[in-house]
Amino acid sequence: MADEWIVSIDIGSSKIAVVVAEEKLDRLHVIGYTQANSSGVEKGLITNPDLVSSVIKKIINKVGESCDKNLDNSNASINISDNRLTVTNHSSRVLTKGSGKITQKKMSEAIETSSAVLGIANNEVLHSVVNNFIINEDTPDSLITNQPIGMQARTIRANMHIVSVAERNVDSVIQSVSNSGLGVAQVVLDSMAISEAYITEEEKEDGVCLVDIGAGVTNFSIFKNGGITHSAVIQLGGENITKDIVYAFGTSFEEAEDLKIKHGHVKNNLLTEEKLIQFSQGPNSQECYLSNYDLIEAIKKSYLKLFASVKKDINKQAKCRLKAGFVLTGGASKIPGCAEFFMKSSRTKTKLGRVNEQKITGNVNMISDSTYASALGLLLYEADESHLEVVQSQENLGISRWIKGKLKLGEF
Ligand SMILES: Nc1ncnc2c1ncn2[C@@H]1O[C@H](COP(=O)(O)OP(=O)(O)OP(=O)(O)O)[C@@H](O)[C@H]1O
Ligand SMILES: [Mg+2]
Repeated sequence: MADEWIVSIDIGSSKIAVVVAEEKLDRLHVIGYTQANSSGVEKGLITNPDLVSSVIKKIINKVGESCDKNLDNSNASINISDNRLTVTNHSSRVLTKGSGKITQKKMSEAIETSSAVLGIANNEVLHSVVNNFIINEDTPDSLITNQPIGMQARTIRANMHIVSVAERNVDSVIQSVSNSGLGVAQVVLDSMAISEAYITEEEKEDGVCLVDIGAGVTNFSIFKNGGITHSAVIQLGGENITKDIVYAFGTSFEEAEDLKIKHGHVKNNLLTEEKLIQFSQGPNSQECYLSNYDLIEAIKKSYLKLFASVKKDINKQAKCRLKAGFVLTGGASKIPGCAEFFMKSSRTKTKLGRVNEQKITGNVNMISDSTYASALGLLLYEADESHLEVVQSQENLGISRWIKGKLKLGEF
């Protein structure tokens, strides 16, 4: 029997989070969640699946108890963020022949032809996403559509976004989850999952870049004309900000993390007066003091380095205009002033991500906590199959049908 709930697990560099949701009034409603310090994960990649399994086991029981569900053997959606990720935007044109009416078979043929890209050794395709179709290309009646079935056409081209990651990294994710007694419903690229909960269809149409600034890595995906056009992972995150504080003031990592969270911000104006903050340089050190101005300057410099890496990759890859700008998520985006600071450095509209409460609800503090962004996105993510709709059909593919599709995952 299918599970009556959906489980997601975010395996992050600093924490592992588990979230459980049920369908309620045509939305998902979070009924249980927790997170614990991560172990066996570095820079977003699993280095020790046994350690990851033991953390998952510990927290899955805790979440199960909190929502009064037996989550043993549930199937969970899991994220992956792999810096060896390769992204190909590929397309091939096929002739429609025959009556010229696009059938599901014809459309599948176009998708298959466009999906046939040369694989990279030891990589596996994680997502093969249809961005859109071009009908009758290079002719006056050329048209871009997401639902070609039923249209009259001489040619059809499927534009695909193909994401592949290292096979062994997918294996480590599956091993970590299976060893903890759960099943794997799907493995999803972090930024693609997050976009489900934080980016609207309109923003995807206008051009938007989702940037998840985690602890070990920053994931981002660009969407334009309704489809995904670029994804990447860079190996910089909140940990690097903390390490720069360690380097600047000679503190331990823990002390630097504490200074960052308690006193850090990247606001444009230093509204506060200069003051001295007491800190320690180790267990036997004398009392030390640093200026809050110096701390803020070190933090800002470090964030600017991170932002510059993101922008460098984006400028290299994507020439498109991001009319809807940047949307930031992830724990490191919680530093006060982050969106304004990013906007100033990128000269592009930027905002902090807000979960789409039309799709998912829950405890206010939890769903507005951006460290849960991946786990919430994973609950909502499923491969987009809207192109299977017949173009003349008036059938309303409402959220209810979409959620039922998700719940079937339990039958896998
Ligand atoms: N208020 C805050 N100000 C600045 N940084 C913060 C704040 N709160 C959390 N962070 C940082 O957020 C990071 C954790 O974010 P998150 O939980 O998104 O990472 P993760 O998912 O574990 O890692 P990754 O996605 O990189 O694998 C840590 O580096 C932490 O220092
Ligand atoms: Mg993360």
